[in-house]
Amino acid sequence: MAFNHPMKKPEAPKEPYKSTKKTPQLLRGMRDTLPKDDKYWRAVYGKAQELADAYGFGRIDTPILEEASLFTRAVGRQTDIVEKEMYVFEDKDGEKISLRPEATASVVRAYIQHGMLNLPQPVKLWYWGPMFRHDRPQAGRFRQFTQAGYEIIGDDSPVADAQVILVAYKFYTELGLPVNVQLNSIGTAEDRTRYKVELVNYYRANRSKLCDNCKVRLVKNPMRLLDCKEEGCQPIKENAPRILEFLAEESRKHFMSLLEYLDELSIPYFLNHTLVRGLDYYTKTVFEIWPEPFTPKAEPVAPVDAGPGAVLSVSGAVADETPIVIKEKEPKEAEEAKMPAQVALCGGGRYDLLVEELGGRPTPACGVAPGIERAVQQLRMRQLAVPEINKHELFVAQLGELAKRKALVLFEMLRLEKIPAAEAFSKGSLKFQLEAANEKKIPYALIIGQKEVIDKTVIIRDMDSGIQETVDFQKVVSAVKRKIGRE
Ligand code: HAM
Repeated sequence: MAFNHPMKKPEAPKEPYKSTKKTPQLLRGMRDTLPKDDKYWRAVYGKAQELADAYGFGRIDTPILEEASLFTRAVGRQTDIVEKEMYVFEDKDGEKISLRPEATASVVRAYIQHGMLNLPQPVKLWYWGPMFRHDRPQAGRFRQFTQAGYEIIGDDSPVADAQVILVAYKFYTELGLPVNVQLNSIGTAEDRTRYKVELVNYYRANRSKLCDNCKVRLVKNPMRLLDCKEEGCQPIKENAPRILEFLAEESRKHFMSLLEYLDELSIPYFLNHTLVRGLDYYTKTVFEIWPEPFTPKAEPVAPVDAGPGAVLSVSGAVADETPIVIKEKEPKEAEEAKMPAQVALCGGGRYDLLVEELGGRPTPACGVAPGIERAVQQLRMRQLAVPEINKHELFVAQLGELAKRKALVLFEMLRLEKIPAAEAFSKGSLKFQLEAANEKKIPYALIIGQKEVIDKTVIIRDMDSGIQETVDFQKVVSAVKRKIGRE
């Protein structure tokens, strides 16, 4: 059997189908993840799992639904998450339940409920799953999103803080993403009480220049004044008293040791005195990891200034030289490139009071949660190389009913040998099948026609040169293994 090189014929455009029925739409702020993105999700999940294994985190999965009061108590009644964003409803038993907006509270609940405080401490746990916040949808902000998370419970040493920052930093840099660590300490509750007096006095003196939201924050939650993104409030925020200057000896020592560990690990960081985080359970260390700004051009991205808010580099350490592969930008990526550079890829910190707050014995802890959609967006936007999945090395083609049966068997033989093959069993035209193989840039097609069925043979076609050879059906797997270097 001889075949000409397949030529691509332009496809006739499909007539638009008009239905009288309305298609239900995706909910606002929700998204589907399609097969074209799967390679990114797999790469990110693979890295999350690899780091969890390497640093000794055990996997925990908690339910998506929890008692609403868990988050009210853990995250804080006056946070945006609880006040504005939680999906809360009554179930059929009249119980007030919530779709989890984050998982640290659930992990701590599970730690207490399963008596994990009786295990050797610290207990290191990691998770991966969907979270829900009824946020205003915008670039990089969804109502259902995925977080990975790493929590170290039962360790008050700053080395634990350093390890969660290390895991998060490696998560991004080993995926090839240039990032910077934004770091602060918000001290203990006592440190904050002292600090808040100064902060409130300072903001009161500037009250007339504040946005409406800040006027409310000034009364309700002064620490959140430092979180304001309004242009007019920025100069006031920049000149606000700095919490680091209000830390008592213990908090200061903790923070300094953390900085020393980070220096030792060559993790570059920026001290950011306005970083306070949007959850109430934090004590002492708080941090976020931000992407380096990105200009979508066909040039490698150089690490640059972390932007406003990143005020001082105390480390002097140099960022990892990560291999970055940038190709020509496709128009499709323009939309994703709008994601603001300062959007946090992950956030975390220490929460020494949370176990006690939820009814457990006082137990220090710290952790971090990377947002997965944002990591995937960054990988796509920067066109970073991730391993292809199902990179087919063979195409199994058939012509005629009997040949189709043999082709099904051949496909199974290849699968058992873990050789990824493509097929189009429902198609009758050999030309179509070879065109498909060509389009997918598959190097070899294995062809069975009527003659090959009778002769118990298979044709191996080199798709580049068009050169064909016929081999015995029983020997074809070892023959192709040699060709694709799988022996
Ligand atoms: P968080 O800062 O609220 O912290 O969220 C962590 C990460 O989740 C964010 O940096 C972001 O990447 C992602 N994320 C948050 N909201 C959205 C959204 N609406 N759409 C897309 N991605 C989002 C926590 O949740 C803490 N539990 C982190 C932690 C763990 N602290 C200690 N241990």
